[in-house]
Amino acid sequence: MERETILILDFGGQYKQLIARRIRACRVYCEIRPCTMSLEEIRAMAPRGVILTGGPNSVYREDAPRCDPGLFSLGVPILGICYGSQLMAHMLGGRVASAETSEYGHTELHIDETDSVLFTDVPRETSCWMSHRDYIAALPPGFRVTAHTPHCPVAAMEDAARGLYALQFHPEVLHTPEGADMLKRFAREVCGCGGTWAMDSYIEEQVQAIRDRVGSGRVLLALSGGVDSSVAAALLSKAIGKQLICVFVDHGLMRKGEADRVKAVFGPDGGFDLTFRPVDASKRFFDALAGVTDPEQKRRIIGEQFIRTFEAEARALGRVEYLAQGTIYPDVVESGVGSAGAVIKSHHNVGGLPKDLSFSGLVEPLRPLFKDEVRELGRKLGLPETLVRRQPFPGPGLAVRIVGEVTPEKVRLVQEADAIFQEELRRFGVDIGSGQFFAALSNLRSVGVMGDGRTYDHAVVLRAVQTEDFMTATAVRLPYELLDAVMNRIINKVSGVNRVLYDLTSKPPATIELE
Ligand code: XMP
Repeated sequence: MERETILILDFGGQYKQLIARRIRACRVYCEIRPCTMSLEEIRAMAPRGVILTGGPNSVYREDAPRCDPGLFSLGVPILGICYGSQLMAHMLGGRVASAETSEYGHTELHIDETDSVLFTDVPRETSCWMSHRDYIAALPPGFRVTAHTPHCPVAAMEDAARGLYALQFHPEVLHTPEGADMLKRFAREVCGCGGTWAMDSYIEEQVQAIRDRVGSGRVLLALSGGVDSSVAAALLSKAIGKQLICVFVDHGLMRKGEADRVKAVFGPDGGFDLTFRPVDASKRFFDALAGVTDPEQKRRIIGEQFIRTFEAEARALGRVEYLAQGTIYPDVVESGVGSAGAVIKSHHNVGGLPKDLSFSGLVEPLRPLFKDEVRELGRKLGLPETLVRRQPFPGPGLAVRIVGEVTPEKVRLVQEADAIFQEELRRFGVDIGSGQFFAALSNLRSVGVMGDGRTYDHAVVLRAVQTEDFMTATAVRLPYELLDAVMNRIINKVSGVNRVLYDLTSKPPATIELE
């Protein structure tokens, strides 16, 4: 079956992923590609429509990013957003100018032409989210103005006969209340997409594609128990059964009961047809971590031990042709941007490719999907809800939730305290949403009194943050009764802990994890 695709050409705008998510939400498949994509490649992709994203540039500058001018005569509908709208005006003979002051934020939007397909059912007076200084000062031939704002004469324009549409504002952000609908109309009505992109068809498509690709070869997957690698395992198992070998390296730094849950789902008594190889490597990790207190060194050691363990397993298996990874779309898009920020923490992802193991190919069956789609796929494939809705958990595990040296005893304290915290969160009906809620261990030991005796014990830190993108996060206002209940249970049940603290800090200045 032909897959209807909308192509999103990226001009450096910060909301490109949001555009993609809105289009996917209309059950239309889309891909983000660099604006330099050639006309031949675009033709080969045969998109039903193209969206030009925003971006930080001015179109009249020499070095401003452009698309191939031939794009506008392909006969494919195009929607320009913000910079994309200005580029459309500029390249088709209109004029773009720089305003005295920029227009930013929530803005009243007046619809001039209610018969525009994009604005069907949009009230004449509505609002939108603006973020621009340049504006379209003169229309290109053939276009009409379809909306304006108090400071922007061309907030929207179109040449419907040629299928060309432009919005100066951002329809993809929630602050443009009718925006999602406008994007939907573009995808469904202007581009004629039927909205057939669904996880059922994705499963069928991928099962076939995986079988065609790997034939009778074997595929190795590092299974961490996280959502992405678990869903990848479930999908690959459906496609190739026992040809899939999942190596699960248990570093002993998982949350309470987590390693057992992974084994229950993917082991011989679970519901999946695959070759499962659990490796209990906890001793090796604890030995390597003994006496180490520096956070970066801890991360390095864990990364290295992981690769060594994985390598040893892979070697023992003999020749394996393919390596599978649970890479998802945000990883793909973000890694293409190449931001040069300061290294705050060196990330270790379980599943990182051992450098000197050779495979004939890489299989990444989740590559085009967003996280919520991966979850939906996992449900369709029969993964339990606890796994599908699992909170993000760092590759180095509890080692980055224990300040200072990691010992089996400290891991036990965090596991027990965290299990109590999670239970109470459930009991109080707290919606974790896109947050991370966990217990950690500070390196504070302090004096307390229990019964009639003096104690000199550890302090547990409770952390609960909400975050959209993990770059920033805010502490959650948990009910006091909940905190009190958690504190009481931890103090009474977890020997070795005599204080419980709540971390109120946002990110920045703190990070989500403690190390
Ligand atoms: P920080 O602590 O940097 O965390 O604010 C941001 C997000 O990244 C996760 N995290 C990691 N994930 N390997 C991972 O796979 C790592 O080494 C790692 N360190 C932090 C953290 O849980 C949060 O979601």
